[in-house]
Amino acid sequence: MELIENLKWRYATKKMNGQTVPQEKLDYILEAARLAPSSSGLQPYKIFVISDKELLAKIKDVAYNQDQITDCSHLLVFASWDGYSFDRMGEVFHKTAKERELPYSILEDFHKTIWGIFEPLPAAYHQAHTARQAYISFGMAIAAAAEQRVDACPMDGFLPDKVDELLELDKYGLKSVAFLALGYRAAEGDWLVNLKKVRTPKEEFIIEKV
Ligand SMILES: Cc1cc2nc3c(=O)[nH]c(=O)nc-3n(C[C@H](O)[C@H](O)[C@H](O)COP(=O)(O)O)c2cc1C
Repeated sequence: MELIENLKWRYATKKMNGQTVPQEKLDYILEAARLAPSSSGLQPYKIFVISDKELLAKIKDVAYNQDQITDCSHLLVFASWDGYSFDRMGEVFHKTAKERELPYSILEDFHKTIWGIFEPLPAAYHQAHTARQAYISFGMAIAAAAEQRVDACPMDGFLPDKVDELLELDKYGLKSVAFLALGYRAAEGDWLVNLKKVRTPKEEFIIEKV
């Protein structure tokens, strides 16, 4: 029940008041994001936590001038792998085996099979797949922020190539996927705060085959 109440409380905050989100709340949100599941457990994404005002101003310039970017406390930038490779997958599988105190050979066939699926697919497919994994983590962060009563605005209104350049994402083999601006609502300046939450009615949203 609490999750539903928290999801009803949250809204895509357009106007933030500049107040700082305490470190323990930020850590909680990031931990929820880190614990998200991903396809084959590859976690093919990272999160940049940005509070540098100069950098935020530069990001705003390539994000349709949206105020949340400079009014927020922290901007989370979800960035996913620019593609899979046998070695990149291998690093994760080797680490997984090591942490579980198992030989890598236990995962070797799986590793080869998964790479065999992706190898013939174009880079754009790889990127779309890694971005989908990042979105699961993004969703977890949105829910965790609501639980912490931290306001948030999920955002994809930005020029990804420009953001990639600003954050030098090529150095990490990453591409920007989505932003989550965290902060506290300036309710008096936000036209959205009191508007009804509109969602597809349950009977249209859920298609049952019984
Ligand atoms: C992936 C994604 C991208 C979004 N991009 C933006 C954005 O760039 N700017 C913005 O103000 N809101 C953005 N939103 C907010 C949505 O418009 C908002 O979540 C939606 O209308 C539902 O309203 P609610 O979040 O207040 O319940 C985005 C939401 C999502 C999930």
